[in-house]
Amino acid sequence: MPGFSFDPARSYGDPASENLVVHADHLVALAALAPRFTGQVRCAYVDPPYNTGRAFAEYDDDCDPETWRARTLALLEATHPLVASDGALFLQIGDRELGQALEAGDRVFGRKNRVSLITVVRSAATGHKAQNLGPVNVSDFIVMYARDRARLRAVPQVKARVGLDPAYSTWLENPADPPKRWRYAPLARTFARTLGHASTVVATKALGRAVFRGELARFALANRERVVRFAQPRYEAVSNEARAAIDRSRAAPEPTFVLDRPGYKCLFLHHGDRVLFLADKVREIDGELAQVEPLTNVWDDIRFQGIAGEGGVVFPRNKKPERLMQRLLAMTSEPGDWVLDPCLGSGTTAAVAQKMQRRWIGVERGGHLDTLALPRLRRVIDGLDDSGVTRSCGWSGGGGFRVHA
Ligand SMILES: C[S@@+](CC[C@H](N)C(=O)[O-])C[C@H]1O[C@@H](n2cnc3c(N)ncnc32)[C@H](O)[C@@H]1O
Repeated sequence: MPGFSFDPARSYGDPASENLVVHADHLVALAALAPRFTGQVRCAYVDPPYNTGRAFAEYDDDCDPETWRARTLALLEATHPLVASDGALFLQIGDRELGQALEAGDRVFGRKNRVSLITVVRSAATGHKAQNLGPVNVSDFIVMYARDRARLRAVPQVKARVGLDPAYSTWLENPADPPKRWRYAPLARTFARTLGHASTVVATKALGRAVFRGELARFALANRERVVRFAQPRYEAVSNEARAAIDRSRAAPEPTFVLDRPGYKCLFLHHGDRVLFLADKVREIDGELAQVEPLTNVWDDIRFQGIAGEGGVVFPRNKKPERLMQRLLAMTSEPGDWVLDPCLGSGTTAAVAQKMQRRWIGVERGGHLDTLALPRLRRVIDGLDDSGVTRSCGWSGGGGFRVHA
């Protein structure tokens, strides 16, 4: 890196590792990184000071809006060239400077490359905050930009649904028989009978509604190959062959028809409706089976509470959950890709990138690099950090990083 010296005393782990920590102002660091990394970064995550008006122990977070705007614009301008043509940048911010962040991001990346504005719910309206005069502020925002929206490579993400989708309310009684002889029954009644109760009403009374629902959801997940819902096909959007099968199914409603579609899943039709299996909506998330649904731009499923000790470092009101970073990296990068964080703070992005086998660059100018991020990253490399996403990544240590200052 031109203008920087390698610092062997603070570097750690495998000396052949390409991961980089730069202890410097990010504008200076990004200029020095540019010759080597132009167009190389698949995912950049920018989590700048929010301009909260506070003085944190580690840095002062209070400046006039114009200064904040100029700094953020300069940071985005310096980061933009490093982002790969199929890559993305995430800019995380609070509501105070959201307007300025959008303006700066649109200016640097182009309005047409703004992919999403994600609301991240970080707390609940409890305690003293509930007495505020206006609405209680419980959210952060993440603005997602593509370097070039037409070329962005993003992996669609899903999230676990709370409870069972009530549409999946039907039980397939005889799945081993040919589909034309399939018989269906209400799922809840079938479950009640497996518990030895005469009906759903009797079982609900015996167990209580909440327990019955919870147990029913577990039963459905365990038997997901036999739990179905019926859904109207989009007649106008399917092939002629599928339309003919729908017509046939409507004319002879009793049997279930199957349409084999080379390259696609079989289409099952009953009474002209599609038969959809719960099994197709179930994934393993953090070691547990869950029904999933597509991710929206409101993220209320990542806990900010309880992350104070994550990574073994304390960085109140600044540190982000490892699960949040895991989602962003999973969405926009693959193992071996470069990830960049020019506001490294306590090192969350680098820790997660390491656990997800990405290559990474972290830039931080504060003295807390030595007290927070570096100790945290050393523990990750030594396999001593069992917090955050360690288990879900199957991480047990390895690798290293080089420090330049
Ligand atoms: C909101 S915190 C980042 C928190 C981080 N995402 C985490 O999970 O720990 C912002 C960080 O940016 C750093 N920072 C602010 N201005 C900087 C600059 N000009 N160059 C490098 N780092 C800077 C601050 O010192 C602070 O650590």
